[in-house]
Amino acid sequence: MDRMIIHGGAPLRGVVELSGSKNATLPIMMAAVLTAEPVIIRNVPRLRDVATAIELLGGLGVAARWRGDHELELQARELIGHEAPYELVKTMRASFVMLGPLLARGGRARVSTPGGCAIGARPVNLHIAGVRALGARVQLRNGYVEAHAARLVGARVWLDNPSVGATENILMAATLARGRTVIENAAREPEVGDLARMLAAMGARITGAGTHVIEIEGVERLHGAEHSVIPDRIEAGSLMAAAAATGGDVIIRGAPLQDLDAVIVKLGEAGGEITPVEGGLRIVRAGTLRPIELRTLPYPGFPTDLQAQMMALLTQAHGASVITETIFENRFMHAQELIRMGADIVMKGSTAVVRGPSRLSGAPVMATDLRASMGLIVAGLAAENTTTVSRVYHLDRGYEALDRKLAALGARIERAPEA
Ligand code: EPZ
Repeated sequence: MDRMIIHGGAPLRGVVELSGSKNATLPIMMAAVLTAEPVIIRNVPRLRDVATAIELLGGLGVAARWRGDHELELQARELIGHEAPYELVKTMRASFVMLGPLLARGGRARVSTPGGCAIGARPVNLHIAGVRALGARVQLRNGYVEAHAARLVGARVWLDNPSVGATENILMAATLARGRTVIENAAREPEVGDLARMLAAMGARITGAGTHVIEIEGVERLHGAEHSVIPDRIEAGSLMAAAAATGGDVIIRGAPLQDLDAVIVKLGEAGGEITPVEGGLRIVRAGTLRPIELRTLPYPGFPTDLQAQMMALLTQAHGASVITETIFENRFMHAQELIRMGADIVMKGSTAVVRGPSRLSGAPVMATDLRASMGLIVAGLAAENTTTVSRVYHLDRGYEALDRKLAALGARIERAPEA
């Protein structure tokens, strides 16, 4: 296992290219199960989670072939299985989104329940209620969700909250159902929109993706397609936070401005100067950082996946910032590590008060999940001396070539085997 060693204090400067979105790629890969014909997916980031998804698909009989660095061909000519095993679901919860495609294509699915995780309980009740509404018989046995349906039947599904994964599962299940499905209170995240575009390219009939109401008119079959994954807005926001925290000047190529409204507003309030440039955006932080109030919300609100990075940044703001996490109940695990680096953070329930500016000093730290690890990287870049972030496998799940990208921007960062 590797760790990242950061010698902090260098402002990030230069140009960086975004990778394809992890959270768009994973469900899009699973959509390959819906057709016997090949699908070609471009702009696929080379990540550990993508490798896990290939393994999951392989177990179902889906052939995967890299046609280039970031171009993946998948073909589910015939399914040889219908299971997402515990070993894979526990390492990558997104595997649970295989439930819908398996049911739609083969009439049955056996998908391990994911269990709790480092950021919260994360139940899957909405996914299950959704496929039940489409007529699947579902039971929970031996830690697995077992679902059957000769053919799914379109229905109205109202989601208690706009869950990204549940929306994606129901959307995929509905593409091959008989009749019309309406998903109300659907997630509006851009990754859901990207999945809908992929499904439409495969012949699905979908309207309203990107709004609270998605309508799907089921079709008899789907066919092969080609699709290019959207750029990763969370990688963009992470790099923006790192640039702002170090007093840098960075151009982010491929930054999807239209998906970053809340992030641009909040980083702007904090003192980042963000301007659109040809093919992306530029972020400069020349003056001091200001404290802000931040509340994570479903899209188009501020993303929970950038909360840790913003907390690290706000340790450098002059005054008290208030961060409220409304999506996951246990997503402040990075705060304790930031405090060890010298941050002044007080937490109460779902709110954290961050008082700055703190002189952060490097320390050995470790994180429990992907975005928390990125928060610690941001802190390490802004800190004095050396920070060592262990458990780099978290970062490898979701950030492509992070050390190389940051080093190219002037960060003093290296990857080394765990001592
Ligand atoms: C997706 O997770 C992302 N993962 C997460 O990114 C992201 O943090 C999250 O959406 C919110 O934006 C992927 O896309 C692979 P949800 P997901 O269902 O779909 C509750 C990262 O670091 N809920 O929208 O699992 C749930 O507990 C990851 O890249 C239910 O109550 O999130 C949470 O409080 C971390 N019942 C809220 O909904 C359900 O059946 C939103 O979760 C499902 C969810």
